[in-house]
Amino acid sequence: MSSRRQLRRDRWVIGDKTFIWHPFTQMQEYANEDIIIVERGRGNYLYDVNGRKYLDGVSSLWCNLFGHRRKELDRAIHHQLERIAHSTLLGITHVPAVELAEKLVAVTPSCLTKVFYSDNGSTAVEVALKMAFQYWQQAEGKRWASRQTFLTLDDAYHGDTIGSVSLGGVDLFHSLYRPLLFKTYKAPSPHCYRCPLGLRPDRCDMECVDEVENILKRHQRRIAALVMEPKVQAAGGMVVHPPGYLRRLRDLCSRYGIFLILDEVATGFGRTGRLFACQHENVEPDFLCLSKGLTGGYLPMGATLTTDRVFEAFLGRYEEFKTFFHGHTYTGNPLAARVASATLDIFQRDRILDKLPGKIAYLRRKLQSLADLAHVGDVRQMGFMVGIELVRNKKTKTPYAPGRRIGHRVCLEARRHGVLIRPLGDVVVLMPPLSITRSQIDLLTDAVRRSIRSVTEHVS
Ligand SMILES: Cc1ncc(COP(=O)(O)O)c(C=O)c1O
Repeated sequence: MSSRRQLRRDRWVIGDKTFIWHPFTQMQEYANEDIIIVERGRGNYLYDVNGRKYLDGVSSLWCNLFGHRRKELDRAIHHQLERIAHSTLLGITHVPAVELAEKLVAVTPSCLTKVFYSDNGSTAVEVALKMAFQYWQQAEGKRWASRQTFLTLDDAYHGDTIGSVSLGGVDLFHSLYRPLLFKTYKAPSPHCYRCPLGLRPDRCDMECVDEVENILKRHQRRIAALVMEPKVQAAGGMVVHPPGYLRRLRDLCSRYGIFLILDEVATGFGRTGRLFACQHENVEPDFLCLSKGLTGGYLPMGATLTTDRVFEAFLGRYEEFKTFFHGHTYTGNPLAARVASATLDIFQRDRILDKLPGKIAYLRRKLQSLADLAHVGDVRQMGFMVGIELVRNKKTKTPYAPGRRIGHRVCLEARRHGVLIRPLGDVVVLMPPLSITRSQIDLLTDAVRRSIRSVTEHVS
């Protein structure tokens, strides 16, 4: 690197370390790390200011779908910029929002007919929570106005705002805030590697579903909705649900008359191999929360879809005060809506979903070679969502002490092999863009295998 370039880089490093407080980052540790300063992206790679390239192994935090600088998406934003960058949806509308809503209703389960826009995944969930809550306060003759809380799962993650943290079940992120949170009912997570009921997958009849039903039986009058991530609980450690679990929970919600809110912020837009994870089990939710891949990973946007039944419960004369009094400044931003529309067009025109099964099967084969490593306890995969759990003792499933920072160290090591990934504790996460090629899957899995070996061989 030229000395001028080096000088510029040093300035940015100092600027970053002086002024920026990074999310989900221990800043004391970060202060001593050699940091990556991303300059640009192209396809499935990120390039730093030193000109080094890295495979984007977690899709820039689970949102990029078709690679960076995808020309149709770039063009959609340019095209929209020539018209208007932002205009509100409070009481008026704009073309990109209308077109996107039509497309979303067409591709999601058929019961979903209305789209409410927001800014990100957490707000998409907050909207669903407040709508479900308000529904019971003003619908069905207020017979169920006592339905004021929610049923959620352990290991759930629904975002970082106070409502979505209240639903969360990841102690490390959520327990400190308990005094600020509203009460929810929590059912055990269907975590087959670390079954909270002490069962083994080969000898279980999904007793965790009975636990959900027990809570519903006892508290049906108090529960507005069951909120869950379908098929994979992502930030909780890439917990892949057993087949049929989602369907059984849908049936329970119907039987006990409560709503099902599906948070597909992480699982949506092809990540699990179908456009939406709920489609694997033909499940129709009452609310569907979307973000991340919604804009192909280009701009922040959230969307909450719901049914006519819910929408109609909010209609009335103004003075009945049934309005949904909720909205964000950038709700339905035209640039984001335009790029989201273009994202859905790419799915259709390039038949993206048809191309996924081959690549998913290839990834599965490559992951088998990781499962044999001495400190890999479990490899969980659903489509392009992968969690590799590292353990100190494979036989007893004993975890490493948190201070060892094993997952973090493996990810730092992977950078040396040209791959950018982020762990969840000691679960190494892979969530590549849908556009990843087979040779890039080789690069990704080889880098991870080498990194796990070199880090775990030197740590007890
Ligand atoms: C399932 C799920 N819900 C909600 C969120 C929150 O999304 P955001 O970070 O955009 O607020 C996330 C983020 O990772 C998520 O994985």
